[in-house]
Amino acid sequence: MSLVVLISGRGSNLQAILDAGIPVAAVISNVAGAGGLEIAAQRGIPTKVVKHGDYPTREAFEEVLAAEVDRFAPKLIAHAGFMRIVTAGYVARYAGRMLNVHPSLLPAFTGLRTHERALAAGVRLHGCTVHFVTPDLDAGPIVIQAAVPVLANDTPDTLSKRVLRQEHIVYPRAIQWFLDGRLVIDNGRVSVKGNDAQYLFSDRA
Ligand code: GRF
Repeated sequence: MSLVVLISGRGSNLQAILDAGIPVAAVISNVAGAGGLEIAAQRGIPTKVVKHGDYPTREAFEEVLAAEVDRFAPKLIAHAGFMRIVTAGYVARYAGRMLNVHPSLLPAFTGLRTHERALAAGVRLHGCTVHFVTPDLDAGPIVIQAAVPVLANDTPDTLSKRVLRQEHIVYPRAIQWFLDGRLVIDNGRVSVKGNDAQYLFSDRA
């Protein structure tokens, strides 16, 4: 039943996973001093830093990262603000058991600076997506999405906060579904056994 969480930064999604009561076996960061490491340490969860910059190639980094992940034999690996693109070889190793949370309504705005780009595009709805990790960036089967309105006076900062609140709701939900064996992927589409809603809309300011 174990879950390993990969992070690069402050770890608010990690916090939400823990607050939801989901046991985390280990937290691994590619960035030393990432805030999420402290959150894990305070709860007595083992942490490890594998700095990508210490390795000459993506593959060499992933070799060491995978060795650390495998020590916990996780059922699921959750990328929670883990800011590394992983190779097809790495993805194949954990096919069907890696989830990611992305701050946009995919397939819109893959990659970085999603809130700024959503504002520039003038979209009226923005949000977040939990999806399975596949070799294509931010393109794996979608588990759940949450939408929020884009308000007239939004800045990337205000919009990101509204989206982040939804990330904290949908990511633990998706992880729990996975751990309960309720996610089914069929032809690139995900369904939830028992028919829970795979979308959310919040217009809370
Ligand atoms: C989140 O917005 C996540 O969607 C994105 O990076 C951010 C990480 O935040 N990939 P945190 O470290 O979980 O607070």
